[in-house]
Parts: sequence; structure tokens; C-alpha cells
Amino acid sequence: MSDWRSIPCVERHKEFLENLIAILIDCTFESVSRENPVLRWREPGHLQDIINFNLQEESRTQDSLLEIATKVFKYSVKTGHPYFMNQLFSGLDPYGLAGQWLTDVLNCSLYTYEVAPVLTLMESTVITKLLNMFYKEENGASIGDGLFCPGGSFANGTAINLARFWFRKRIQNNKTIPSTNLVLFTSEDAHYSVSKWGNVCDVEIVLVKTDEYGRMDINDLKVNISEEQKKGNYPFCITATAGTTVLGAFDLLIEIADICQEFDMWLHVDAAWGGGLIFSKKHSVLLRGIQRADSILFNPHKLLAVPQQCSLLLTKHKNIFKEAHSKQAPYLFQKDKFYCRDLDVGDKYLQCGRRPDVLKFWFMWQAKGTSGFEKHVDHLMRFSTLFKEEVEKRDGFELVTEPCFINVCFWFVPPSLRVQNTLYDYKKRLNEVAPKLKEKMTKRGSLMINYQPLHEKPNFFRFVIQNSGVDMQDILYVFDELENLGESM
Ligand SMILES: Cc1ncc(COP(=O)(O)O)c(C=O)c1O
Repeated sequence: MSDWRSIPCVERHKEFLENLIAILIDCTFESVSRENPVLRWREPGHLQDIINFNLQEESRTQDSLLEIATKVFKYSVKTGHPYFMNQLFSGLDPYGLAGQWLTDVLNCSLYTYEVAPVLTLMESTVITKLLNMFYKEENGASIGDGLFCPGGSFANGTAINLARFWFRKRIQNNKTIPSTNLVLFTSEDAHYSVSKWGNVCDVEIVLVKTDEYGRMDINDLKVNISEEQKKGNYPFCITATAGTTVLGAFDLLIEIADICQEFDMWLHVDAAWGGGLIFSKKHSVLLRGIQRADSILFNPHKLLAVPQQCSLLLTKHKNIFKEAHSKQAPYLFQKDKFYCRDLDVGDKYLQCGRRPDVLKFWFMWQAKGTSGFEKHVDHLMRFSTLFKEEVEKRDGFELVTEPCFINVCFWFVPPSLRVQNTLYDYKKRLNEVAPKLKEKMTKRGSLMINYQPLHEKPNFFRFVIQNSGVDMQDILYVFDELENLGESM
């Protein structure tokens, strides 16, 4: 029977949905079991034989849909698995997942109070709480505002646009300065989205050198600012990073904030990765100075393991989102509404329709409490220190740089290179090790850990965790598995 109406009915869909939910619950536990592989690698041609991706004229039966769902799960990467350490997100938090499912049942878009009353108040609560935490004010609501963004890259772009808006309004005195004369400074280790959005906003991006730990070099920053001024350009923004993508470095926020103050520039802090440390009394010291930022990007879907995506842009400028973005579309934001129009938050956003990413975060926060997030973060910091100590202990493992955060970057030097490390082509051969090991682990499905080169450094592995289910056995497993896979190299 054709089933084309987009409405669930008990007779037709209850049993189907119950069966699907039963499958999803099984998948949830299977995906995190150490007995199961992280992935079942198949070449694309083989995968197309297993799953028929073609779209056809006729409908499929519910049984075949359940079969498809099972296969989709089976051949997808299990990002909640303790051996998935490939990205700056991982884990499968049970309460986050529940919040995600609840979000999907609501299928809401968050722009007006009339469409999203509960979600509007929830969002305002979370933003106010985070403003209080980052800006350390008694009442965050009075000092700033926040947006939920579809990912950190988009939030970085929004911040650049805000900085440009602010600079023009404040400095320009009605002179027209072309965007191409506006200059933004960020480090060469900053996330690539900053440069991408520089292109979109048509502003000049200067990449400042980093020091041996991956932090922005303050002297190079000063030299670059003064060179740009001599050229007649306008330095308008510095984007500092709190937790760089590869090395996990923290730029010196206090020094950078002083420079922004001196030159009247906007300070944006990309704390997409490191921002979660704000929950830890012990480790939030790495974020010192962040309260001086004009805007802050924070991705709870990274360190806090909130399901994807959950990303916020916070600012201490209370009205700037409205000033910079508002267009007051009359079909959504009618002036003669029967309730307070301030409750319609949509107009301060660059998007129109918007998924309520707040719900899963708020739900997790209810389940764990602020103290639960603190324990989670402290656990991750502790286990990355244990990982680092193991690198130092084991033959054939070498640190790339001294870590201060979760990221532990290291080389695995296989036995054949250990004895001959004076070889003239040592660097070239070391560069080939990580990609080969990556292929082996992926095909075996035993581990997923990322590698990359950086500046002149040959390919190295980057250990990262966001899953506080990872324990000491898992840490030792990573070393044993790499030794195992690299034994004959
Ligand atoms: C420091 C930093 N900023 C921004 C981003 C971009 O975040 P998203 O992947 O949510 O776009 C990343 C992603 O890894 C990152 O590491």
C-alpha cells in the first residue's frame, strides 16, 4: 500500500516506530561496546552492493525500511565507541541522545515565541547562564547576548561580520572604508574557517606566526599590525584561539586583549574546543582573560560531548546582534503581536529557520548538573595526562610538543626506524608511517585516530577524547594496537 501522507497514524505506524526504536536502542548499546569494531570498512563499490542507494518510483515496505536502517547503522562509523578518537567530537551521551530524540519529535524551528514558547525560554536560560560563566558577571543577561549557530565555523564567520559592523560604526565616522582595507589577525594554527570567512566577508586575513607550543607569537602580531597600519590599512579584529585544533594550544588572551584595547580592535576568542573548560574549577585557568573578549565561540558538542551540533556565539555587546542583523520580516515579526516582541529571537539571527540545538544541551545539563559537566571535563583532562605519560614511557613513541590540554600529539616510530634515525630520509619515512597505520586500523576497524603534518613537522597522530567513558584500559589499548599494527614496519 502506498504510504505518502506525512502524518503518523496509530494503525499504520505505531508498530513500525516501536520496532525502529527497539533497533535504535540496540544500536545505541552495540555502538559503544568494545566487543564491536569502530567501523566495518567497505570500499564504495562494495557498499553500494550492500545498500541499494538508488531512489525508485515505488514505495518500499516497512520491513525493508527496518532492514535498511539496520544496514545504515552496521556500516556507519560508531562515533560513540571508546576507540573513536578521530575528531573533536565523540561519545554518545544517553541524556544528550534523549534530548536529540525529543528535539526530533518536536520538529520545531526557533524564531518566534508563538512557535517555540518552551524552547525560547530554555535558550534564554542557557545563554544567560553561559554569559555569567564566561563573563563572570552577577547577571549575564544585563551584559551581553548569545546565538546558537549551526557549527563553530558559522559562528566564527558571524563574529567576523559583527567585528566589521562594530568597527565601521565606531571608527569609521561615516568614511567609507572598503572591506579589503580591513585587516583581521589570527594565528597560522587557527581553525581554517577564520580564513574562509575572511574570504566571504572580503576582509584581509593576516596569519601570525606561532611559537613552539602553537600559541600566537605576540611580537609577530605587533609587527604585523604596525606593517598594516603603515600600508594605510585598518586592523579591526584579532581572532585568538583557546584550544587550537591540532596542538590544543591556548593563545595568550590577556596580552592579546591589551593589544586590542590599544589599537581599538574587536577581540574574538575561538573557544570552540577549549571553551568547555569553563565548567572546571581546576582547569578553567587556561581560559584566563576570556572575559575581555568582545565575542566568544564555544562548541558544547566538542569538549562537553553534547550531540552534534551545538555551538554558541556569545558577546558582551548586548544589542549588537539586532543592530547588525535585524530585518524585521513582517510575516514573522509582526509589530502588532499580542505578546512581548522581545521574545521573538529570530530577527537577531542570520538564519531564518533554525533547529533548536539548545534542547539536548539543556536536557543533559538537567541530568548531570553543572557539577556533572565539571567531573566530565576533569576526567578528560586526567586521562589525556595519563596518555601523555604513557607516550613518554613507551619505546617508539615521541611527543611532538608538550601538551597543556586534551590534545596529545605524538609520533609512532616503527622498529625499523628506531635504530636508523640518522638516515638522511628519516623525516620522509616517518611521514609515511601515520598514513599507513591509519589505513591498517581503518580496514581492521580497531581504532580511529587522526593524523596530520604541521608546518615542517612530518605526519603525527593527534590523541583527543571527549568521551568520559574512556578509561585506562582504553588508553593502553591505543598503544598496544599501534604497536601491533606497526610491528613489521
Ligand atoms: C578551534 C576550532 N574552531 C572552530 C572549529 C569549527 O567548528 P565546527 O566543526 O563546529 O564548524 C573547529 C573544529 O574542529 C575548531 O577546532
